[in-house]
Amino acid sequence: MTTILNGKLISQQIQDELFIEVNKIKAAGGKVPHLAAILVGDDGASETYIAAKIKACEKAGFKSTLIRLPITVNEKELLIKIEDLNNDEDVDGYIVQLPLPRHIREHKIIETISPKKDVDGFHPQNVGRMALNLPSYIPATPFGILQLLERNNINTTGKHCVVLGRSHIVGAPISILLSRNGVPGNCTVTLCHSRTENLIEHTRKADILIVALGKPEFVTAEMVKEGVIIIDVGITRIASDKTKSGFKLVGDVNYEAVAPKSSFITPVPGGIGPMTIASLLVNTLKASKKEIYG
Ligand code: GUN
Repeated sequence: MTTILNGKLISQQIQDELFIEVNKIKAAGGKVPHLAAILVGDDGASETYIAAKIKACEKAGFKSTLIRLPITVNEKELLIKIEDLNNDEDVDGYIVQLPLPRHIREHKIIETISPKKDVDGFHPQNVGRMALNLPSYIPATPFGILQLLERNNINTTGKHCVVLGRSHIVGAPISILLSRNGVPGNCTVTLCHSRTENLIEHTRKADILIVALGKPEFVTAEMVKEGVIIIDVGITRIASDKTKSGFKLVGDVNYEAVAPKSSFITPVPGGIGPMTIASLLVNTLKASKKEIYG
């Protein structure tokens, strides 16, 4: 039997819980959590993600601020904006939407974000603390995966987890998180990437397969074993003659072919995407309560 992991539903449950908690904070005269976001340029996908994050803030009763900068902004100007946010006492946490234009050094920007306000969990201090199993902000997509596993009572201990993709946003952190001593965690993790040889030999051994490649419908039925748990992080717009709009959203997994072999599978859309949004809000609430750094 295949169970669909309904990220949309779980994300809504988390956002409802956040709404209740924020209302309690408000009733007690406390500070409303405030998330800020910097968006450079007008990349279509980034616009969509940012709009979803801002809307979720509104629905959960959080304050949000969107700072738009032109694609021509230089690194120094962006760094000044970041220092402003570091010093703005009303802003609890903020994100700089990636990717940035090529003339801006991403690592320089991330290293300038105050680790205390780094609700994306991308700063080296948060990445290091995460690897050491110390309190830290956990990047939203991996955090969303953990919450989806946990809230569906999926036992990960002792399982072989194969991760496809080594990005700093998803693949690398989720491989660390699932190998940590904790729950969810305690997995034996194999991290595969573009230079991995005989990929299918690895994927066929996976009890849990996490795919974050950005390659539409890359994983086929022959690549997985019966009973696999599939976490599909990919989301790509492809042309379709079956929809009114002329396009559809697909994941990195060929859902129709792989779902029948899976015990659990995330749909696209409605799987990991909404979980990422909810997790960002959880991190923002933690920031406003100064839960991690005091
Ligand atoms: N671009 C794609 N995913 C993310 C994310 O989780 N955070 C930021 N800041 N940019 C992204």
